[in-house]
Amino acid sequence: MPDPSIAGVETLRWRDGRIEMIDQRLLPGRIDYPGYDSAAGVAEAIRSMVIRGAPAIGCAAAYGIAVEAIRLSKMSGQDFQKGMDLAFEVLAASRPTAVNLFWALDRMRRLLDKLRAEGKSVRDIAALLLEEAHAVTAQDIAINRKIGEFGAALLPDGARVLTHCNAGALATAGHGTALGVIRSAFAAGKSIRVYADETRPFLQGARLTAWELVQEKIPVTLITDNMAGHLMRRGEVDAVVVGTDRVAANGDVANKIGTYMVAVLARRHRIPFYVACPLSTIDLNIDDGGRIPIEERSDSEVRGFGGVEWAPAGVQIRNPAFDVTPADLVTALITEKGAVMSPGRAAIAALFEPD
Ligand code: MRU
Repeated sequence: MPDPSIAGVETLRWRDGRIEMIDQRLLPGRIDYPGYDSAAGVAEAIRSMVIRGAPAIGCAAAYGIAVEAIRLSKMSGQDFQKGMDLAFEVLAASRPTAVNLFWALDRMRRLLDKLRAEGKSVRDIAALLLEEAHAVTAQDIAINRKIGEFGAALLPDGARVLTHCNAGALATAGHGTALGVIRSAFAAGKSIRVYADETRPFLQGARLTAWELVQEKIPVTLITDNMAGHLMRRGEVDAVVVGTDRVAANGDVANKIGTYMVAVLARRHRIPFYVACPLSTIDLNIDDGGRIPIEERSDSEVRGFGGVEWAPAGVQIRNPAFDVTPADLVTALITEKGAVMSPGRAAIAALFEPD
């Protein structure tokens, strides 16, 4: 089975009673693994983008609950419960758009409630919450491998594939979703070339996607976001594959800002536009994409980068971190249960029916 890490580099790892995460703000220049032993610390790591990407945020949140339970495990049952309630609140407030965060917190909350109802000791609860966080992480890798296999079948040999942002191993526990599809196709022997959108303003494409693919020796060409239309018009892109932070019940897809622009261009040029995600990214409680909460981040991310500012002082700035692509622009949703062509309400609901 192929290694789900990026040439041995892991997104998250459990070491010495702490959850360590590769600091994605420093990549590709430096590899550093800060460790966290409290929910507040993990929440801050999510908010400040030490860790980012929908499934990776879910795994981090699960570990945030586990480390807090360990931290509080000397307390009385009542104080423990109060501290845990606060931990859920703090983690839920870290970032609003990726539903995987809330999915993971719900999963941890359900387990905590069950263990409390069973009368388990605080120490046992902490140990079992940690096991659950490990399980969330291991399952994410297994799911991404399935997504990769289903998606790889959609990419022809020789495909030139454009991707936006980073939906790779770094955005998950390993293997990746959109990049997982590309990795699986490449591992199956297909000749694949990737165009990585730089992805302004946070540069996840330039810094993270390009780095992952260079490490893996998968041919990649970095472009700025405004070059995609030009390449498509010249017939140099055969498919688009992206990840997502939340899919609404009707199939509308929220993903990194700029994804909508790419989807419109792909439709104009009759290029398939694929969205790869685990079922935990689909939010049946949200009826359509207009209701997905879109994070607005600090204006400093648009004003400049890495300490260099290029915008004039006093200029007004907007920084929505995500946009919504309507379902009718999506050629297929690639999940661990298979690829859903032209995803709509009924097909999405069917994904949640028992096998
Ligand atoms: O702001 P980010 O870097 O967390 O945004 C990440 C994305 O938009 C990804 O495409 C999405 O989370 C899917 S990750 C498999």
